[in-house]
Amino acid sequence: MDDKRSIRIGEDITGLPCVEPLPGACAMIIFGASGNLTRTKLVPALYRLSRYGLLSERFFIIGASRTDMDHVYFRNAMKKNLMDRYDLDEKGWAGFEERLFYIPIDYSDSRSYRGLKRFLEEKEREFGTEGNRLIYLATPPGVYGQIVEKVADSNISQGGGWTRVVIEKPYGRDLESARVLDDTVHRHFNEDQIYRIDHYLGKETVQNIVMLRFANSIFEPLWDRKYIDHVQITVAETIGIENRAGYYEQAGILRDMFQNHLLQILSLIAMEPPSVFESEPVRDERVKVLRALRPLPLDSLSEHLVLGQYEQGRIDGKEVKGYRDEQGVSPDSTTPTFAAMKVYIDNWRWNGVPFYLRSGKRMAVRSTEVSIQFKQVPHLMFEKTLEEKHIGPNVLVLKIQPDERVLLTFHTKIPGSRICLRNVVMDFSYREGYRGVVLDAYERVLLDAMLGDDMLFVRSDGMELSWSFLSPVLELIDRRDGRAPEVEPYRAGTWGPERANRLIQKDGRWWRNY
Ligand code: BG6
Repeated sequence: MDDKRSIRIGEDITGLPCVEPLPGACAMIIFGASGNLTRTKLVPALYRLSRYGLLSERFFIIGASRTDMDHVYFRNAMKKNLMDRYDLDEKGWAGFEERLFYIPIDYSDSRSYRGLKRFLEEKEREFGTEGNRLIYLATPPGVYGQIVEKVADSNISQGGGWTRVVIEKPYGRDLESARVLDDTVHRHFNEDQIYRIDHYLGKETVQNIVMLRFANSIFEPLWDRKYIDHVQITVAETIGIENRAGYYEQAGILRDMFQNHLLQILSLIAMEPPSVFESEPVRDERVKVLRALRPLPLDSLSEHLVLGQYEQGRIDGKEVKGYRDEQGVSPDSTTPTFAAMKVYIDNWRWNGVPFYLRSGKRMAVRSTEVSIQFKQVPHLMFEKTLEEKHIGPNVLVLKIQPDERVLLTFHTKIPGSRICLRNVVMDFSYREGYRGVVLDAYERVLLDAMLGDDMLFVRSDGMELSWSFLSPVLELIDRRDGRAPEVEPYRAGTWGPERANRLIQKDGRWWRNY
């Protein structure tokens, strides 16, 4: 069996092949297997990887969690979920489910881990996985530390091959708890064995930010304070909290989306070119951006941060509940489901350039995009002849989802003797430029974890820096300190509270959505 092969998964429109390396043999243990993430993201991603031929034949999965069920029940539950959401290929599923097992476990009981280990070793012999183990923590975060300790005590972390531990967000709930967790994980694993997931880094177009900037000579010379007026990063969702009240009430939008996804996108947009495209140099540059973030001023926080919470409204023609009416949410909850923030990066390149970030649940449309707005032309030579007295700026838009595109707006003349300008758009669609499979974010990060490529994962220092940036603000909000911004209501199906518009409009700018 040759585990070193690459698989062709598609080609671009010019016929260039797109290949993915095939990972080698390994066992994967998913803690938290009865949970939402395993059902909706992990197992579907693994199933699709198997359908693309991107899993080793010497690979199997053991799901472990507190719920008492057997292999068959677990497989059926996973299958049902897949059938509800996607077209399931029965034959493909049959091949996949033979590698899917389940063991109930009490996270605090060492005997449980010994039982899991016995089963794991038996399957390792059967599948010939050479003791390589990928341990995935998808449980509620409160038990991460305990599982790591028990996994180490029971020697599940020592299989004789490589062991990697993949840890889902939230990694702590503030700087202090994140450090405590990190100390525990580091007591048993080296940094190069720890894969902290931020699935946004696995999205094709998020990765493309680096290619676009550093593989083209036309953008980088303009990529700084001299030519860029400001940057906007929007992650708008139409979904609400989807039965995750227990988690979301504790987290809120800043912990759920800003500490990780938005700050990671920001770091890719703002980083310096690494000398080589390898994990450590790329992560070094991302981390430097986080280190240069200017702390938000706690005494005038409302000028930099707007918080909101959705109320009842309509999305796609359907009436949806307000946040406080969601099951499990306190009727007087002040948990923010929306935030807009203005941040600065204090370094040579970005001095004085504002980055406006916003994200919310139950917003008007689902859209993740970065827009780089260039400065106005320095002199309007058409002023006397032009009918419009204002020429809008050029904007480069990186659309990350739902449709993956790169757009550039520029001005052209409308034909005729009158001088009239028109703003036109150059539009590249990822999907249209490519035939074949595009791995989704979870497929990408799972594959990379199996391959031992940690570039798209968050390093310890990066994780700490993003918490250091947000923790003082979170502390004010959690304490309901008078300096924390009010949580303003907004109607579901809108773009957040009106104050979010004022945050940017007072600087003479406005939010863009393409
Ligand atoms: C998760 C958040 O990390 O990202 C969710 O916990 C959010 O609240 C999700 O809905 C968004 O991910 P995506 O890939 O659907 O944009």
